[in-house]
Amino acid sequence: MTWLNKPNTVREPPPQSNNTPQHAAALPSKDKAIDQDVANEKKQTLATTPNMTPLPPNVELRPCTKDDIPHLKRLISLLLPIPYSDKFFREIIEDPLINNITLLALWHDDVSLKAAQKCRLVGAIRCRLLAHPPSPSQTDGPMLYLSTLALLSPYRGHGIAAHLLHTLTRRAIEDYGISSVGAHVWEANELGLEWYRKRGFREVGREEGYYRRLEPKGAVVMQRDVSVMDLLGKG
Ligand SMILES: CC(C)(COP(=O)(O)OP(=O)(O)OC[C@H]1O[C@@H](n2cnc3c(N)ncnc32)[C@H](O)[C@@H]1OP(=O)(O)O)[C@@H](O)C(=O)NCCC(=O)NCCS
Repeated sequence: MTWLNKPNTVREPPPQSNNTPQHAAALPSKDKAIDQDVANEKKQTLATTPNMTPLPPNVELRPCTKDDIPHLKRLISLLLPIPYSDKFFREIIEDPLINNITLLALWHDDVSLKAAQKCRLVGAIRCRLLAHPPSPSQTDGPMLYLSTLALLSPYRGHGIAAHLLHTLTRRAIEDYGISSVGAHVWEANELGLEWYRKRGFREVGREEGYYRRLEPKGAVVMQRDVSVMDLLGKG
């Protein structure tokens, strides 16, 4: 399981057979910050989840822009007991691949005011792609690795986190040919572990001392393979 501990981050998507990546075309060049226009354009192309129970209509899932970063930093520092570097947040804006597999959840006070300002950031998922270790068959695609997933507690139980994960899983299958989804979860985070189990993840390993600043320090490695159900919206 050490390959998951110090992963080879995938910088570019693997060559697609004859599928043009659905979202890649909307991405800016690597050295350009994602601006609001691009973000708006991408918002239109977010995968739908036809077979999942829909979210409340006042919940919006959209890409992260430069203006969101201070709010995202605050959300993550509130909810996750680990400090994240400035680079971690900068990459969301500067790296089109990371931007494509990061998604925010916004709660609008009034659904009829969707386009207006009266909304707050309530949750986020930020992922990266990990190359699988070399295997004899070499058939495995990369893994969608969840670096962070967090939702403010008053907004839990609406399926927002499930929709965030499902939308990115589906996108990562289509755009990068991933074959699995994985995450490290703090061993004391019973609720978090249960949430993953309910969504088909299983424990594939433990890493002692993974969270150096926490007590206990261990991480549970949770993982699941993707399947056609993810594309059908039954993730
Ligand atoms: C992990 C975490 C994101 C889960 O939040 P959550 O609100 O429980 O998860 P969801 O938004 O997916 O809601 C799930 C519940 O909503 C219900 N629900 C209601 N409407 C729904 C809908 N439209 N679609 C799907 N589920 C819906 C589901 O039945 C589900 O209940 P269940 O888990 O008992 O089956 C949240 O607990 C959290 O932020 N924790 C702190 C950070 C953390 O631990 N992160 C994970 C480890 S890194």
